[in-house]
Amino acid sequence: MSGITDLGMRRAARRFGATLAFSEMVASDEFLAADGEARLRAEGEGAEPHAAQLVGSEPSAMAEAARRLEGAGARFIDINMGCPSRRVSGRLAGCALMRDLDQAERLIATVTAAVNAPVSVKMRLGWDETERNAPDLARRAEAAGATMITVHGRTRAQMYNGQADWAAVAEVVAAVKAPVVVNGDCRGLDDARAMLAKSGAQAVMIGRAAVGAPWLVGAVAQALKTGAPLAEPSVDARREAALAHIDWLLAALGRSAGLRHARKHLAAYAEKAGAPAALRRALVTSEDADEALRLLASAFAPQSDREAA
Ligand SMILES: Cc1cc2nc3c(=O)[nH]c(=O)nc-3n(C[C@H](O)[C@H](O)[C@H](O)COP(=O)(O)O)c2cc1C
Repeated sequence: MSGITDLGMRRAARRFGATLAFSEMVASDEFLAADGEARLRAEGEGAEPHAAQLVGSEPSAMAEAARRLEGAGARFIDINMGCPSRRVSGRLAGCALMRDLDQAERLIATVTAAVNAPVSVKMRLGWDETERNAPDLARRAEAAGATMITVHGRTRAQMYNGQADWAAVAEVVAAVKAPVVVNGDCRGLDDARAMLAKSGAQAVMIGRAAVGAPWLVGAVAQALKTGAPLAEPSVDARREAALAHIDWLLAALGRSAGLRHARKHLAAYAEKAGAPAALRRALVTSEDADEALRLLASAFAPQSDREAA
């Protein structure tokens, strides 16, 4: 997720057992222009196997970016054909490619030919209700060499509104031999089970529910595998993971920019830890990185300790 799944968060997700943690989308042209932010988004050290997502419209640039990413250690390359943002889809990238399947197929074929790493494609159900063509795109993607398909069960017109349609993903599962990953609105184990049952997909992708809870992905994976109830890590382990994530951001972006960037994570960690409103407010308005880290640690403390502090 753009602006969210920075390397610090992906490291945490992997440490707690997420099977794969994809990078934020990396624009191929920015990456090739050695843009610092794009390079940082594309890093994967400590979150191996490194899975990088590319977004772009130009097949040769996408292929070159994929080649360089693979050279830098990426073991999986994902192509974004689901981003609804006007900035992306206006450039015939992201979900806009679902309106031009010939171009989408050319792009996928060019990328798969350029790398040895498996290439997957992430898409939505289609552009809108009248163009729900995910099964067609998935079929073409597979023919072009893609080895995994992820489907967010909404159309582009829906943006993030309404409910993801997990049953609709079954049409994609029926259309291809490649494994399909179902995505959209997974909040926990029950949703994950329902998503797999309704779609027949082989795996679940969790996005927003992992913000402030990167351990959730591995916990769901483990429970699906063993049939045991969902087991969250200890509060100490969660606090240490949250602190390590924010530390990484502060080191990677600098303390001031890092703190600004960290605010959405700080808010999410504190909310999911059940911290009181006053502490959460102090946390997201703090201008001091050390203070923010102290407040974040205290957000994970039992209420009795917080009152004593
Ligand atoms: C802030 C934000 C940024 C996102 N960035 C990306 C992205 O870079 N690449 C991508 O494939 N999907 C991106 N998505 C979509 C999610 O990966 C996911 O498909 C969607 O949120 C539905 O899944 P969820 O309900 O589990 O979050 C983003 C979503 C959000 C909310």
